[in-house]
Amino acid sequence: MYNGGKIIVGLIIFVGLFTFPIFYNMGKTAEAPKPNIDTPEINKMEKKQCVESKEWMKANHMQMLDQWRDSVLRDGNLEYVSSTDGKKYIMSLQNTCMRCHSNKKEFCDKCHTYANVTPYCWTCHIAPKEKEI
Ligand code: HEC
Ligand code: HEC
Ligand code: HEC
Repeated sequence: MYNGGKIIVGLIIFVGLFTFPIFYNMGKTAEAPKPNIDTPEINKMEKKQCVESKEWMKANHMQMLDQWRDSVLRDGNLEYVSSTDGKKYIMSLQNTCMRCHSNKKEFCDKCHTYANVTPYCWTCHIAPKEKEI
């Protein structure tokens, strides 16, 4: 094989560099940021409760938002009934989620940065106005 040695060395270096971030991150035990719920709307609530339970929201809010969008846009159904407490909500990212979670940067963004996801919603949906931190 012509120059096979060099190619193999090159490959080993390449794979090493490429997977370095994965191995590097594996050992990390950094705590997930504690979500900040200190907003005017939430502070007004007697019982600090999301649309569904905190654990459920944490695991399922992405699917929930997908379902909300489909339900509103395809079926014209705007109303969501919480299976946790029967409360009714208008299915809206801006008007429902972001009314309570008006601190998008501190709440949604911080957790997404940690989890390494970048929801593309905000190219169309308007994020709440916030003071620059
Ligand atoms: C290309 C533009 C665009 C992007 C990107 C986008 N949306 Fe939308 N979305 C819309 C439009 C337009 C509507 C309809 C608005 C209306 O009827 O008031 C809508 C409606 C919705 C609704 C129901 C109505 C409401 O007021 O919220 C939800 C929920 C929703 N989108 C969630 C999302 C989520 C979650 C993301 C990111 C994963 C996202 N959208 C990304 C354009 C977009
Ligand atoms: C009526 C106010 C309100 C609305 C509307 C609301 N939330 Fe929440 N949310 C809260 C409160 C309060 C908590 C903290 C609950 C707790 O600590 O038990 C929370 C918790 C969460 C959590 C879990 C955070 C954690 O600690 O891990 C996520 C994720 C979340 N909300 C996303 C959303 C999304 C997405 C929407 C819209 C579909 C939404 N919320 C709508 C008030 C609200
Ligand atoms: C406790 C941490 C946490 C909080 C707080 C949080 N998210 Fe998320 N979010 C995640 C994680 C983790 C994912 C990726 C899940 C996956 O890929 O399965 C995600 C994914 C999403 C997605 C789907 C993105 C995609 O590209 O698939 C949307 C939309 C979203 N979050 C919206 C929100 C909104 C809006 C808020 C604030 C109201 C919020 N999230 C708050 C952790 C959080």
